[in-house]
Amino acid sequence: MKVLVIGSGGREHAILWSLKQTSPLPLDLYCAPGNAGIAELAECASIPPGNHASLIEFVKEKGIDLTIVGPETPLADGIVDSFEDAGLAIAGPSKAAARLEASKAFAKDFMRRHGIPTADYRVARSTADVSDALSSGAFGPATTRVVVKADGLAAGKGVVIADSHEEAKDAARALLAGEVADAGAAEQVVIEEALEGTEASLLLFADGNAYALMPAARDHKRIGEHDSGPNTGGMGAITDASILSSEMLARLEREVIEPTLAGCRSEGFPYRGVLFLGLMLTKNGPRLLEYNVRFGDPETQAILVRLKTSLLDVFQATRSGRLGETKVEWSDEASACVVLASRGYPGRYEKGASIDGLETVVGDIQVFHAGTTKNGEGDFVTSGGRVLGVTASAATLGVALKRCYEAVERIRWDGMQYRRDIGRLNEVGEHVSG
Ligand code: AMP
Ligand code: GLY
Repeated sequence: MKVLVIGSGGREHAILWSLKQTSPLPLDLYCAPGNAGIAELAECASIPPGNHASLIEFVKEKGIDLTIVGPETPLADGIVDSFEDAGLAIAGPSKAAARLEASKAFAKDFMRRHGIPTADYRVARSTADVSDALSSGAFGPATTRVVVKADGLAAGKGVVIADSHEEAKDAARALLAGEVADAGAAEQVVIEEALEGTEASLLLFADGNAYALMPAARDHKRIGEHDSGPNTGGMGAITDASILSSEMLARLEREVIEPTLAGCRSEGFPYRGVLFLGLMLTKNGPRLLEYNVRFGDPETQAILVRLKTSLLDVFQATRSGRLGETKVEWSDEASACVVLASRGYPGRYEKGASIDGLETVVGDIQVFHAGTTKNGEGDFVTSGGRVLGVTASAATLGVALKRCYEAVERIRWDGMQYRRDIGRLNEVGEHVSG
């Protein structure tokens, strides 16, 4: 079997590692474009994820049996539809289904149509609409916090949590005017009630009808310890049974997952692939913040080290509609992924630093590469903001974290930064020592 994974981050490294790890048969693995760590287990082709025609040509030339898509942008651009039109097998949601992530206004309206609990919101197309929405009373007095979100994909830069209506208006104006670096000009923005609670990421595989849950995970989005400083792509993730109780999982299946999959079917885009629910557990019950139509990064690293079933079989089942007959099994453990990042990240960051100590990390610790390349001497050097994700599973979260941090201590480069408090937040989001 030949399998191609599209993408170049820690998530894609983890997908490829897991495909290999869980497959009973040897696989020929490919990645486009990949990174230096991925190149140790897959043949990398330097085709950008946006170039669907070249990817199709590559798949035909190599005789690749299945393609798996990591990031959201190619999905939003309809890569699944392009591959299927070309008669090629690809796992992931169609362009129509990918609107659940590609347009926040579409996603919020979808949640409303299907009675899925979410924050109250209004969609606004102009600064005048924003002022009307805020003065309508729906968002409380002018001193209330509100969240402003750019409608489209915005590389993580499209969400502003504003402390007052005035700040929200400024943020909305900047998003609509395209003044936010990397975010592009939004055609519309979503103004949303700010919720309080604990966040959780719940991912699942779906085949249009049936679904299989993955272990619940928690991301750590801020750059600094105690959740300080700006948001990043994610500085670490954990999976642990304490994140969502079995009662809460049952409630989420009933109130969020089943109505979502039924809604996709009834609106003509049955959902196939990986679906990611970004949740806020509030004192009034769970609320869905967002859908992502793909694996999360770094949640995937922490999740997939616990997978026992063949990941290839699971992806095939999402395509063939046989997920209901496939038992997707996970180790009965907890896991953690600690992200090591470059100095300066999430702002302008340094590149080209030599990474030492990687060869000393052995045993059951996985070091997934996110932003690495090799220098002329064949040594790994940094080439991205997030560079490595040190990942381990163990019987308890405490042991998994201890193993990750012991490995982290062995790795170094000039400017390496990481959070020392991954997994050390209690259920109300407070930092706990130990
Ligand atoms: P999103 O891309 O919609 O998940 O938003 C990114 C992050 O912003 C989330 O992970 C939350 O930390 C925060 N966020 C989004 N929506 C809200 C909300 N309604 N209330 C409070 N925080 C939010
Ligand atoms: N870790 C959050 C995401 O992948 O969107």
